[in-house]
Amino acid sequence: MASAIKKINPADFLKLEPTREKKIAQAEYGDITPETAYLPNKLAKALHPEVQYLVVKEVIAFSNDVKTYTLVADKEAGTENVAYFSAGQYLSVRLKVGDIEITRPYSISSCPKDALDGFYQLTIKRVDGGLASEYILDNWAEGTKVSVSAPQGTFTYERLRDVKTVIGVAGGSGITPFRALAKSIANGDEDFNLVLLYGSRTQADILFLDEFKAIEKECDKFKLVNVLSNEKVEGEESGFITAELIKKYAPEGNYSIFLCGPQAMYTFVDKEIETLGLRQKFIRHELFGEYRNPEKLEDYPEDIVGKTFKLTVSVCGVTKVVECNANETMLNAMERGGILAPANCRSGECGWCHSRLVSGNVYVPKRGDGRRLADLDFGYVHPCMTFALSDCEIDVPPFKA
Ligand SMILES: Cc1cc2nc3c(=O)[nH]c(=O)nc-3n(C[C@H](O)[C@H](O)[C@H](O)COP(=O)(O)OP(=O)(O)OC[C@H]3O[C@@H](n4cnc5c(N)ncnc54)[C@H](O)[C@@H]3O)c2cc1C
Ligand code: FES
Repeated sequence: MASAIKKINPADFLKLEPTREKKIAQAEYGDITPETAYLPNKLAKALHPEVQYLVVKEVIAFSNDVKTYTLVADKEAGTENVAYFSAGQYLSVRLKVGDIEITRPYSISSCPKDALDGFYQLTIKRVDGGLASEYILDNWAEGTKVSVSAPQGTFTYERLRDVKTVIGVAGGSGITPFRALAKSIANGDEDFNLVLLYGSRTQADILFLDEFKAIEKECDKFKLVNVLSNEKVEGEESGFITAELIKKYAPEGNYSIFLCGPQAMYTFVDKEIETLGLRQKFIRHELFGEYRNPEKLEDYPEDIVGKTFKLTVSVCGVTKVVECNANETMLNAMERGGILAPANCRSGECGWCHSRLVSGNVYVPKRGDGRRLADLDFGYVHPCMTFALSDCEIDVPPFKA
């Protein structure tokens, strides 16, 4: 093996220079015009727009509480095409609900090929008392104008990091990124095996059942395993998604696990996954929804429960004070107080809400702490995953777009 590696002589690089000069002299080029000058910039802008203006083209109701929205580019508002994405990514949707401006991430449930055909789909499930989901389900209709971020997120299959088989673990609306992944496997855009363990209460709650069954029939790289917690049905698994169940469907040797669902499932399955002894790089999480109830964690200080603190927020030199309950994230408190702060994933991972903690004590759940060492050294926090333990002051970047 060692003999196959050729030794690099630094002097060889000098020999490249005349060759390069010769190639530059021989290259064909035309006049640089405004149209050709910034082509790479134009491409980058098309792939990563700061904002996308979309319009609802179709609403497909699974029930009154779950609907799929087909969104196309709103050319009148200035978006020519929807940006391409990787299966598993999400859009951060910007909304005005009453007087409050908020953002919420929603996974793209259609596949990247559909984006080339000009549309995205988002599938949204009602959360009782939820600001965004209730607003969307009750108000979005054909023709509604929507503004969203560029596609974001790392809940994607990476050939260099992941192995050939992925065990997908989904709960409730956490099924949406898996629909994009399964469709992409079926149409050849993705090349890996996906065994999807999908937890639902009853058979009637399973989303996209017919579609998944059809994909399973035509594509031997995809398998669906329904796991029903409140019903026993012949041919389906019942109970919860445990380490034993994962082992039952996992291949011999290495496999990746992609986990996506609400916090209750996440907390339970996470503990089960720990017992499997997989390397960390093979485990990918997407927490569906904001982190709630930090007081349930062992290292949360007990004497803080039920308290409310003052949160002083500076955005570009303008200061506002809002109330922050001990059990809500600083991001939530800011939005309730009328401050639209930058945010995408709302689960500690993307760093978009990155803000400087000027003073005060905070609690960050270990599981959702996506800060880098430099953030810790220079006192930065992710407000979407930070809980106040005293009155605090933070310096927040402005919301863009
Ligand atoms: C990457 C990503 C992708 C997602 N994709 C999807 C998707 O495809 N489809 C989908 O339906 N959802 C998806 N979600 C979840 C979505 O972003 C929202 O979290 C969800 O719609 C709920 O938002 P809401 O504004 O309706 O609820 P919120 O207003 O945020 O409240 C949620 C619930 O928590 C309660 N609550 C509020 N504050 C507290 C508190 N301090 N303590 C305890 N409880 C509280 C509320 O009463 C309510 O019941 C995704 C989340 C992430 C992170
Ligand atoms: S919004 Fe992504 S880390 Fe806070």
